[in-house]
Amino acid sequence: MGKPRLFVTRELFSDVIEELSKYYDVEVWDKYQPPPYETLRAKARDADALATLLTDRIDCDLISSSPRLHIIAQYAVGYDNIDVECATRHGVYVTNTPGVLTEATAELTWALIFAVARRIVEADNFVRWGEWWRLRTGWHPKMMLGVELRGKTLGVIGMGRIGYRVAEIGKALGMKIVYYSRRRKPEAEESLGAEYRSLEDLLRVSDVITVHVPLTKETKYLLNRDKLKLVKKGAIIVNTSRGAIIDTEALMEALREGRIAGAGLDVFEEEPIEPNHPLTAFKNVVLAPHIGSATYETRHKMAELVAENLIMFYMGEKPKTLVNEEVLKVREPGFRGL
Ligand code: NAP
Ligand code: GLV
Ligand code: GLV
Repeated sequence: MGKPRLFVTRELFSDVIEELSKYYDVEVWDKYQPPPYETLRAKARDADALATLLTDRIDCDLISSSPRLHIIAQYAVGYDNIDVECATRHGVYVTNTPGVLTEATAELTWALIFAVARRIVEADNFVRWGEWWRLRTGWHPKMMLGVELRGKTLGVIGMGRIGYRVAEIGKALGMKIVYYSRRRKPEAEESLGAEYRSLEDLLRVSDVITVHVPLTKETKYLLNRDKLKLVKKGAIIVNTSRGAIIDTEALMEALREGRIAGAGLDVFEEEPIEPNHPLTAFKNVVLAPHIGSATYETRHKMAELVAENLIMFYMGEKPKTLVNEEVLKVREPGFRGL
């Protein structure tokens, strides 16, 4: 039996690729830019397995035109770029990388919250570009004032792995925690004193709103124009989940009208955003290029988990972090008959 063919859509860590090469015939797309859709489709057509990124569109067209494809191992926890339903129907396993990136993403979320609350980017520019020097003020009682977090209310939308860790840190800072999620979370209520609220109530009472739901049909524009009108005046909104959960136009409207004090955004409806995107004109918006999980430690752990899933599947076992459990009824794991 030959080795099954694995196409990896971007450079991962070389030790992980080496490990995978013991089981798979591995091809790595080594360009900095993602493979164009047509290239990806052509590669997938000849592949038994794919290791994908959130920048790869894995739609039903691609899946159904890839007859050999058995498994898609996503290098991310979110998998809104993959048509999972279609994959399941075709007996294609889909895995992701939950857990290992929780800490890094929660820390980046707090980096954004602090940056907006204390105007860190604006302050850096003020110093760097000579404004502080020109004003000759040194220290002024009213220079660059921000807001304090202790005693304020943190509203967590989506109390899952990342949302919970963000809430824990908020609790440690002396914030009151409220949350909205699909289901109530007794653990968060007991250990953090978190209070469950409807989405509308959460928006009305929170001083800092942080978004951690996955992007699905239900959560697209969860924060639309009407919802954003409910936000408490002077609140900060941070999104490290997916851009399309917030209506960007409506968010900019709220910022322009001063209803929202500031925003921290790691994710956008379309990525990358252009340098002249209207969001870049707001001093009170801190922007990051989708780097939630971008620490050395986490990115390596994510690669290891991708490999673990692919190797388990190769061994005929159910992969460790399988997204579509129902696929087990369609096809057994492994590459029988190859
Ligand atoms: P998770 O553990 O699955 O948490 C998601 C939470 O959202 C769950 O608690 C879930 O509720 C809730 N939820 C799902 N659909 C909902 C709905 N329609 N209404 C209300 N709540 C809903 O996922 P995670 O590991 O925390 O990751 C969350 C998201 O963060 C990922 O999907 C990804 O998009 C994003 N992310 C971004 C970065 C980055 O680089 N910026 C890095 C990592 C992750 P239940 O528990 O009740 O099902
Ligand atoms: C990153 O955005 C992820 O979903 O892991
Ligand atoms: C500020 O630097 C202070 O000493 O209060």
